[in-house]
Amino acid sequence: MSTPEPSQHGRLGVDEAIAFWDERHLQHGDLLSGGDLTYDHCTNEAFYAMRLGRLLDIIGASASAVAPLRLLDAGCGKGWFARALTRCGHQVDGIDTSETAIEECRRSAVGSDRYMVSRLDAWAPTCFYDAVVAVDVLFHLMDDGVWRDSVVNLAALVRLQGLLVLVDHDAEADHLWGEYQVTRSRQGYLDVVQPLGFRYLGFHPYRFRDNAAGFHVFRRIA
Ligand SMILES: C[S@@+](CC[C@H](N)C(=O)[O-])C[C@H]1O[C@@H](n2cnc3c(N)ncnc32)[C@H](O)[C@@H]1O
Repeated sequence: MSTPEPSQHGRLGVDEAIAFWDERHLQHGDLLSGGDLTYDHCTNEAFYAMRLGRLLDIIGASASAVAPLRLLDAGCGKGWFARALTRCGHQVDGIDTSETAIEECRRSAVGSDRYMVSRLDAWAPTCFYDAVVAVDVLFHLMDDGVWRDSVVNLAALVRLQGLLVLVDHDAEADHLWGEYQVTRSRQGYLDVVQPLGFRYLGFHPYRFRDNAAGFHVFRRIA
């Protein structure tokens, strides 16, 4: 885990970012706190539902009752995806740095879903996951060292033949959008993830309005 760095020019520092998100979870309801602030409630509902559909296309829509998929929702926010995936029969762990969000997740849990306060680069469970997903989180990790350590740690939690599903843009170069958003290049992800024993399966765009994000999908093969 990287040592937290102070604010870099134009970017929130690690602790500032954690405080920023906790405050946003305090100020906003379940959709706006983790969704898109430029959308109204109804549009965010559609935005979440559409992404759930895309995610289920990638990881599987239904689970066996006797052998549910074990999933990690990394940076789960208030848990919209974790609850939806649990309702589909999957067994979901959600982690997030926001204590406010995790308290809300625990209050709203729908079954076997479990929630823990943790950074992505620090989560150390005792089991591997069939799939690890991080939805709209990695491009909010402003520190490049923390981003890299987080991707490496999430990859280490995926079982052999399991999936690593990381949301970002599908771009040629990194781009700083503001103090709390920086997108990394496709090659940046490939350079970190492929040497860890993963094959790149491709990019599945959200295809929601002008949103350029989507799912980079990797399978562990070694
Ligand atoms: C845009 S929200 C997305 C939340 C959720 N995935 C969703 O789509 O509703 C980003 C989330 O990442 C969390 N977060 C930011 N930095 C994190 C870190 N280093 N480790 C874990 N979670 C983090 C924030 O607290 C926030 O809940």
